[in-house]
Amino acid sequence: MAIFHSEQEGLFHLQSKDMSYVIQLVNGYPAHAYWGKRLRQQGNLKGLIRTVERCSFIPNSVPEDTSISLDTLPQEYPQYGAGDFRNPAYQVELEDGTRITELKYRAHRIFQGKPPLEGLPALYTEEGDDVQTLELDLADSYSGLVVVLTYTVFGTFSAIARSVRYFNQGKQPVRLLKALSATVDFQDAGYDWLCLHGSWVRERQIERRPLGHGGTSAESRRGSSSHQMNPFVALLRPNTDEDQGEVFGFSLVYSGSFEAKAEVDQFDHTRVSIGIQSFDFSWLLNPGESFQTPEAVLVFSSDGMGGMSRTYHKLYRTRLCRGIHRDRERPILVNNWEATYFNFNADKIEAIAVMAAKLGIELFVLDDGWFGKRDDDTTSLGDWIVDRNKLPKGLEDLARRVNEQGLQFGLWFEPEMISPDSDLYRKHPDWCLHVPGRRRTEARKQLILDMSRQDVRDYLFDSLSEVLSSAPISYVKWDMNRNMTEIGSAQSNADRQTETAHRYILGLYELLERLTARFPDILFESCSGGGGRFDPGMLYYMPQTWTSDDTDAVERLKIQYGTSIVYPISTMGAHVSAVPNHQVGRVTPLETRGDVAMSGNFGYELDLTLFTEEEKAVVREQVADYKEIRSLVQKGDFYRLRSPFEGKGNETAWMFVSEDRKEALVFFYQVLAEPNAPLRRLALKGLNPELEYQVEGLDAPLGGDRLMQAGIHLPLFHSDYASRWWRVKAIDYYFHN
Ligand code: DGJ
Repeated sequence: MAIFHSEQEGLFHLQSKDMSYVIQLVNGYPAHAYWGKRLRQQGNLKGLIRTVERCSFIPNSVPEDTSISLDTLPQEYPQYGAGDFRNPAYQVELEDGTRITELKYRAHRIFQGKPPLEGLPALYTEEGDDVQTLELDLADSYSGLVVVLTYTVFGTFSAIARSVRYFNQGKQPVRLLKALSATVDFQDAGYDWLCLHGSWVRERQIERRPLGHGGTSAESRRGSSSHQMNPFVALLRPNTDEDQGEVFGFSLVYSGSFEAKAEVDQFDHTRVSIGIQSFDFSWLLNPGESFQTPEAVLVFSSDGMGGMSRTYHKLYRTRLCRGIHRDRERPILVNNWEATYFNFNADKIEAIAVMAAKLGIELFVLDDGWFGKRDDDTTSLGDWIVDRNKLPKGLEDLARRVNEQGLQFGLWFEPEMISPDSDLYRKHPDWCLHVPGRRRTEARKQLILDMSRQDVRDYLFDSLSEVLSSAPISYVKWDMNRNMTEIGSAQSNADRQTETAHRYILGLYELLERLTARFPDILFESCSGGGGRFDPGMLYYMPQTWTSDDTDAVERLKIQYGTSIVYPISTMGAHVSAVPNHQVGRVTPLETRGDVAMSGNFGYELDLTLFTEEEKAVVREQVADYKEIRSLVQKGDFYRLRSPFEGKGNETAWMFVSEDRKEALVFFYQVLAEPNAPLRRLALKGLNPELEYQVEGLDAPLGGDRLMQAGIHLPLFHSDYASRWWRVKAIDYYFHN
């Protein structure tokens, strides 16, 4: 891997094991020359950019060479106002009210490693990583604005991390009106667009459609990355499928409002851009100040969607998630939310923990309702003091009672929120996001604390630290249950109110950094009404996320499948819950609920004390099985075999393969039973074609080639909501281990 620079040709070639990305300076403009399969370095890259003179509606950006127009040049960081009419990557307003800038190459640096992003989550490197960074300095000579484009290439991954830093080196203030993280100008329009859309209890549904002329977008204006649109999009060639074909992924390491757009222009060029939402955003940069955008992680795959996902999985699991739990097997937990909601006391919790211990479960999580006077969702957020009516002897006593059963103890918080009916609100009514004189719009009877304020963050750090130090707490579930309205901060001046939403996210990240550093042993799981903030930004601080409030096994197939497009399995919380399911009323077998939840960070979310002896036996087996397979589930390579988004969506299948390809797990799910059904086979993936494998339940070993080409026979189910999974082991391994 290397970043090559040819001064003479004005070329930068960013090359990893299987991918190349080429930038060409054209009259000082950084032009985008190529992104795709790896190219040889020598003599191969000249002339990738072609310019031709067009008509009077295509402005001449370089008077001496009328073939060059910003409106047709593929660019790395396009601007508005000086010839390019397409969607710009940034826009600034100068003191004189003008909004024209022209960024041209000034200098560059190429170096080993990757610098951290100030105040923002980002991919990181470890000793021995084959990683190089290119920084391109662009300057607008008129205003003194300097923009540094940063590109980091990872030798073994087909990925580039991009971000941008703005420096005001002029004498006048500059206002950023738009500051995206990355733009890529593709040469043609032959692409499908893929995004992950959804809703509460229906997150990350896959949608794919051909791009047409004009704009296509995926964005959030909710103040968080959102259930509705995940901060990820991909372009795929029309013939690309799960296993072959080109894919270009764009994932934003950010938890606030974002935009991802594609625009197909008159010459069938496609511009893709991603970054902070520019609607209702601006940022004042005084002379000498700088602004850092979030990081966008761009992944290329010529092995279809599966190849792209496996790159994101490995990169995010090993170079985005941090802390001691990153590589540890995650505990099997039981959470009392769907078991008791707000209606519990210490004895009830202890009874669940006693049963959990008997079944082999490792962690008990006390969810909402343990603090203030919170008997329903209308009060007390912000008052992080244990409710002595429910827990008379406090958290320490409860945690000790749970620990005595051999289980770890975990606790729920919703730190960013404040209930109008809380002591905190009565004391600090200006601590929430609000606009003076306007209604404070409530959602779930709560308002949002203004995380851009240092005093708010200090209060949260102190009050959470006190609780976390008061008892042996091994796990924290960090929830966040509404979106932002009346986005304003009582502490900001009028000219900085449009910075509030982004300052909130920066404040949140600062608090998370402080707390996770102060309590490095605690396993943090993020949550936002399930998966409303399932994004790479949160994963930097918390290595797992509660995937969805929808715990129905059938709904979860789509949610987990869609989530796996970008996010590693080790980041997905998945629990078995009671039937009829609380979200959709469906009754599914306990075995199937277990088989779905086992394809994530496994747990239960029901009242274990209500189980019959037969059900307990099933759970005992599930827990024992998961302990055996979790390392492979959490760290193995993930292959999607059947999509619930295709056809009637009746079948879903996926598998996990060990790095040495000697072990695998195959999961198959069928929603509805079929009368007189055809006999079907399921082709496996990721195995070694040369090896023989023993598939659990089959008499004789089968070749990896046969398993991948012809597949295994699928069972004929005679009931709805059925599932089956198989262990697969390479035969020498099987006999000798
Ligand atoms: C939303 C979460 O997603 C649920 O799991 C639960 O923690 C509730 N909030 C509690 O209010």
